[in-house]
Amino acid sequence: MGILSILTALAAVTITFLGSTAADVPPAAAAAGSPSPWATGRGAGGWDEAYTKASEFVGQLTLVEKVNLTTGTGWEADVCIGMTGSVPRLGFAGFCLQDGPLGVRYTTKNSAFPAGINLGATFSRRLMRLRGEAMGEEFRGKGIDVQLGPAAGPLGRVPQGGRNWEGFSPDPYLTGIGMAETIQGIQSRGVIACAKHYILNEQEHYRGSISVKIDDRTMHELYLWPFADAVRAGVGSVMCSYNKIHGDYSCENSWTTNYLLKNELNFQGFVMSDWGAQHTTLGSALSGLDMAMPGDGGAPPYRSLWGGALTEAILSGTVPQWRLDDMVVRIMAAYFKVHTGAFASRPAPNFSAWTNASVGPLHPSSNSTWTVVNSFVDVQSTHAALIREIGAKSTVLLKNTARALPLHSLLKSLAVIGRDAQNIPGGPNACSERACINGTVAMGYGSGTAEFPYLVSPATALQLRAAADGAAFTNAVANWDLEAARGAARGKDVAIVFATATAGENFVVVDGNAGDRNNLTLWDNGDALIRAVAGVNNNTVVVLHTAGPVLVEEISKNPNVTAILWAGFPGQESGNSLVDVLYGVVNPQGRSPFTWGKDVKDYGAELLFQAPDPRKPEQSFDEGVFIDYRHFQKAGIEPTYEFGFGLSYTEFDYSGLKIVVQNSTAGATVPSQVVAHGITEPAPTYGTVNKNVTANVAPEGFKKLVPYVYPWLSSANVSLARTGSSSPSTATNGSAQPVLPAGGAPGGNPGLYEVLYTISAKIKNIGKVAGTEIPQLYVQLGGEENPWGVLRGFDEVVLEPGETKTVTFELTRRDISNWNTTSQNWEIGNKEKVVFIGQSSSRIRLNSTLPVLPGLLWRSYD
Ligand code: NOJ
Repeated sequence: MGILSILTALAAVTITFLGSTAADVPPAAAAAGSPSPWATGRGAGGWDEAYTKASEFVGQLTLVEKVNLTTGTGWEADVCIGMTGSVPRLGFAGFCLQDGPLGVRYTTKNSAFPAGINLGATFSRRLMRLRGEAMGEEFRGKGIDVQLGPAAGPLGRVPQGGRNWEGFSPDPYLTGIGMAETIQGIQSRGVIACAKHYILNEQEHYRGSISVKIDDRTMHELYLWPFADAVRAGVGSVMCSYNKIHGDYSCENSWTTNYLLKNELNFQGFVMSDWGAQHTTLGSALSGLDMAMPGDGGAPPYRSLWGGALTEAILSGTVPQWRLDDMVVRIMAAYFKVHTGAFASRPAPNFSAWTNASVGPLHPSSNSTWTVVNSFVDVQSTHAALIREIGAKSTVLLKNTARALPLHSLLKSLAVIGRDAQNIPGGPNACSERACINGTVAMGYGSGTAEFPYLVSPATALQLRAAADGAAFTNAVANWDLEAARGAARGKDVAIVFATATAGENFVVVDGNAGDRNNLTLWDNGDALIRAVAGVNNNTVVVLHTAGPVLVEEISKNPNVTAILWAGFPGQESGNSLVDVLYGVVNPQGRSPFTWGKDVKDYGAELLFQAPDPRKPEQSFDEGVFIDYRHFQKAGIEPTYEFGFGLSYTEFDYSGLKIVVQNSTAGATVPSQVVAHGITEPAPTYGTVNKNVTANVAPEGFKKLVPYVYPWLSSANVSLARTGSSSPSTATNGSAQPVLPAGGAPGGNPGLYEVLYTISAKIKNIGKVAGTEIPQLYVQLGGEENPWGVLRGFDEVVLEPGETKTVTFELTRRDISNWNTTSQNWEIGNKEKVVFIGQSSSRIRLNSTLPVLPGLLWRSYD
């Protein structure tokens, strides 16, 4: 490439940045005009080989074969929740995409794993990874190519967010690790993971129309952060979300997809739309969408925005061939990335998402091709044991007075009270999409669900345990019959009362809650039930199965409530996991992945329930990076229980904080990758496009299914007049492009992940029983603009009584940097920085200022 074009390319970038006068306004306008970055896998750890294979494969494809792999065949057109077209000539079947983040949805003989929020509560990389692997095995066993999870959006800006529980935590660091471990686990089993919903899909109300305004720094430091971890972990696909960002739909948003995800984060996989989140043919293609799901939903003749419509756009030249080739090579690279070694083969789907009968239509939307669609392959393996372990180790012990817990075998009597403890009438899947609360709640509702193979209710598990101990057992549903509840609780050694507050996706409404929770109180009379039971029994244990925080201030202060446990959404082994914790088989080690406020107002950020103009809902994330504990700390609001908090049956002592500088030559910013190789190659194309119209229509005699989506032109007479002339010419420009300063490799500039400090401390178990401590590292970056502290490390430390271990945290450059909106780069600020090690975000046991890195000048700000 000539020097002139390099300079022109660089100049374009410079203008972009100088053009954004307000420092925190994203360079959206300029980004919208930039071409969608093309991926080549080169220098992108772990992708090279996949790209070699993918480019060879794509090079053999005709235009319609390529288009076929980019477009879903339509809603319920095939056996999976989403399926692309295939390449019959090469014996390559379409991609099968299936929900969801906690297990295989819409099938049988699968496991129902604990929800993401429970994995957040484990603060355990080990369990996150193991669950990912186990889920990957199950998806593969069903013949699925892409698991539609894990989720980092919503992150959890507001506690009522309907789908927060599908993800890990409102803390981006914890979520980022949850994403990376889960993705690596899933993909290690030959299944492509999907990081969703990208991005800012923070609420269910108006999710398909709301336009979110956000400043560039908050985007980077909060919402984009876990997606960066996902990309760095090698995630094969990303799902763009329903909402708009700064006026443009997420799946048509050049800033978020082209600029942030594909350029800055150097994402090498493919972007698929959420179901129906694509809105235009051209806008989506040029803004970086690679796969349209479920593929239908457009005007005649194609009834799809892509399929034949995309073929037309290519032939007319409105979408350049390199853009289509980039879509397909990304899709195929993700495929080849996971199909290696023992997972080189590719089993076909052996289930139908749309029927549980053995025989059914292969193409339900056209009710055609009846055959055996369900082989009922049992994929559960020994995952129940892992599910039980995660259920127990994600349970957070919030209160335990007078050693009420663990319970012991000498108990003479116990009462279990509340609908949330009970078997679900009609079986665990009696309510479709888990959209009810007529028994124990072990997952939220909507597409983030799976069918339960079985569900061990707390009542069943506790009854078994009581029987084994010879204790009298009383079980009462009684949520609204408080007299019956009191009767059951009175005189018992312990009364265990259960309550729930569920949440989910907005296509189902449960008890008036359209996905998002209307409030943070317990459902189904839960608060009154707990009050009634505690009124007659001074050893009342409260168990909560909730989607997130509920208001428990009053309960926490009630002296007759001796213990409170948050069990979250623990999945199929719910009762067994709980019994393990209640009886001390597992010493509780869960830590709250969110803050428990005393009032919904305490959270600061608000959910938009009623837009002033419902046709144009808008929201500005003005609270910036201050959500959850960061807001509570800034506003000086005392929560009932803080982020990171959880009790154990033993106690731990912290000592010996040690900080070692690992890089004594670090400057404020990492040398940009741009310096060395800051220009991409021109957009590659693979194979040639046969421009002959007749080569791109359906073969003669081919009998199309209706309403199946095909890649062919509707007829040989279509006019290929160039449309979309309004598209910025830069968006179709395939010449070499500059790499952003913060980019250069998946997850961003690799230098961001360089370890600058190691920080260690000694942890001792000073109690009488073995236990696991979750030490947490928080960093104060300094200055008003930064939170009091942000989570930047945690570990799972197993300790016998009297045992001491050293825990070591690694602090990377990214961990102590802020996003500089002007230079569009991460930068270590000049304020004094402090590290805290503790048992939660406020129970700090050790602290120290971070030694100044040579070459950087730090000053105290207060
Ligand atoms: C919409 C949901 O938002 C998404 O999470 C899911 O994967 C798709 N529907 C497919 O069910």
